[in-house]
Amino acid sequence: VRTRVAIIGAGPAGLLLAHLLDRQGIESVVIDSRSRAEIESTIRAGILEQGTVEVLDRTGASDRVLRVGQRHEGVELRFGGEGHRIDFADSVGRAVWLYPQHEVLKDLIAARLAAGQDLRFEVTAERVEDAETDRPRVVARDARGGRVEIEADVVVGADGSRGVAREAVSGAYGGHFREYPFAWFGILCEAPPSSEELIYSNSPDGFALISRRSAEVQRMYFQCDPQDDPEAYTEEQLWRILRSRVPGTTLREGRVFQRDVLRFRSFVAHEMRRGRVVLVGDAAHTVPPTGAKGMNLAVADVVLLTDALRALLLERDTGLLDAFPRTALDRIWKAQHFSWWMTSMLHLQPDADEFDRLRQLGELRSVVGSEAGRAYFSEAYTGWPLPPAA
Ligand code: DHB
Repeated sequence: VRTRVAIIGAGPAGLLLAHLLDRQGIESVVIDSRSRAEIESTIRAGILEQGTVEVLDRTGASDRVLRVGQRHEGVELRFGGEGHRIDFADSVGRAVWLYPQHEVLKDLIAARLAAGQDLRFEVTAERVEDAETDRPRVVARDARGGRVEIEADVVVGADGSRGVAREAVSGAYGGHFREYPFAWFGILCEAPPSSEELIYSNSPDGFALISRRSAEVQRMYFQCDPQDDPEAYTEEQLWRILRSRVPGTTLREGRVFQRDVLRFRSFVAHEMRRGRVVLVGDAAHTVPPTGAKGMNLAVADVVLLTDALRALLLERDTGLLDAFPRTALDRIWKAQHFSWWMTSMLHLQPDADEFDRLRQLGELRSVVGSEAGRAYFSEAYTGWPLPPAA
């Protein structure tokens, strides 16, 4: 196969990039090792920054996000047994939308297929070759084991943190890496919402997040040990833990029908580009889930990269592609900091002593008790402005 842009990975980054390139008249091929059903049913985070929603809506990528998604103008930070509302609308005049990532993926896949684009499921990339030429190549296998080769002007690795593209770009260079001594236990349950807005709770027993999905289904998380086995807890144990983590709030409980343990890591690759191979989204960086920056950061990468590829492929101007890693990293490190900061401010460190606990509460009080603190939180949570979407 010969195309202009070969995209490895049909997640938010890869699919949105294909969509934005198509709008510029630039042809691409997207492959993913997973099936369409698997991609459309994997449960991920649910918060879209305002800028992400604007890109999806204005470029025709999703007409459902504004109809089905819920606009949230604030969140609650809960600590010391009390809730403190951060009002985004009041602080920065912005909002976020609760619209699950797999719904975004359904919209993007439907739009790509309707546009007649080349989108191939169950095709597994094995390696990227000739990165330093102007004909880089993806070598892959289809579901029957047949060899697939995609030759392109540019290869984009949007294949996540365990993908093969990272190897072709950063290889031995590696990246900046941070692990955390905890994880999140996530559940989906059949119950009415416990709260209109999300609750991020710091409790003496550890963190919990009360999120939501719909009138009938709710999403909740609590801080757990990274080694925890999701099946080792009874439903009653799960509810007892969740209740203890949001003191002062009453949870509406119901049948737990999905459970998973999410790992916590921060990562930024040393290199996001080698020759004609570029990394975007989780292939280039990972954030811990607190603050839900992962998909939003992928969208920001892709908006920038679209412009760089337009300049390269339509105007033979390499300037924006040369500048891409530096420009993208500016936002990536801000989001890395915010995700790390929310995580450190809200979670119980296993080795925390009294000083650490009291300092953490002082930190939380200085955020919720100051206009400047609330404004910084709101600005970061709702997302820094994006360049205009191509
Ligand atoms: C959700 C996940 C997050 O990481 C977060 O910060 C907020 C909400 C969610 O899945 O609903």
